[in-house]
Amino acid sequence: MSLSGRTVVVTGAGSGIGRATCARLCRAGARVGAIGRRKEPLLALRDDLSDEPGDVVVLPADVGSAAEVEHAVRTLTDRCGPVSGVVNNAGLARFAPIEFSSPSDLDDMFAVHLRGPVNVLRACLPELRKHRGAVVNVSSVGGLLAMPNRSLYGATKAAVNSLTRSWARELAPQVRVNAILPGPVDTPMYDDLGLTGPQTQTLRADLLASTPLERFGEPDEVARWVTLLLDDDTSGWVTGVLFPVDGGRTS
Ligand SMILES: NC(=O)c1ccc[n+]([C@@H]2O[C@H](COP(=O)([O-])OP(=O)(O)OC[C@H]3O[C@@H](n4cnc5c(N)ncnc54)[C@H](OP(=O)(O)O)[C@@H]3O)[C@@H](O)[C@H]2O)c1
Repeated sequence: MSLSGRTVVVTGAGSGIGRATCARLCRAGARVGAIGRRKEPLLALRDDLSDEPGDVVVLPADVGSAAEVEHAVRTLTDRCGPVSGVVNNAGLARFAPIEFSSPSDLDDMFAVHLRGPVNVLRACLPELRKHRGAVVNVSSVGGLLAMPNRSLYGATKAAVNSLTRSWARELAPQVRVNAILPGPVDTPMYDDLGLTGPQTQTLRADLLASTPLERFGEPDEVARWVTLLLDDDTSGWVTGVLFPVDGGRTS
């Protein structure tokens, strides 16, 4: 299946990589179920893409809530037909040395990075199986590398990588499951890391210094690979892959 006419769920759709992914999908003629907690960015996304061949259905929901996700997926399928693609992209980063990290930050990252993909997959799985669908999890190079001073974020992303590989085996041959592992990408995520302004500046400088291509990525440079992995034309024989799109950071 190529992307035109497909119904695809994208979580964290209102900003950054999720927003860029929705734009690519919509331009390719897909119907996009745009999930995020805040309704306003999703409405703005729908307005911005109103001239594209695809559709955007605004679905405010917290991915950590199974009931909210089930309701959102039901609304989408009633309107657009069965879901054959999922992009688990919603995320949140709370960075701190371990002695200063807060248990509630761990709970929040666990809820969005782990419970979110589980809730979305379970809500969509019967239709994904029936329509030979594809799932792309947006993980992070932080799930592969040592992550001093942000170990809890790295641990929850390592768990996403584990889910990806296990689901790829468990759901084959009907459903393909892959992950994109972005390096540093310029998105609103850096506005809200739980760090002070100077700490964020130091972090950005460190990330830049450890990225061989010497710049942050743009959201669309990640979205391009997300859509390629969803598309059977390019990736019909690809599953269980953890694919870094990272300016060389993991090389
Ligand atoms: N930017 C980077 O350098 C980078 C690097 C590696 C990996 N990533 C990963 O890429 C993904 C996208 O992040 P981004 O960089 O594009 O950041 P972003 O612009 O902050 O996007 C994150 C999105 O997730 C949504 N979200 C957060 N918690 C949610 C929840 N519980 N339920 C539903 N939606 C939720 C947010 O919207 P609401 O607040 O409205 O819910 C937001 O739109 C994340 O998984 C992130 O970990 C980013």
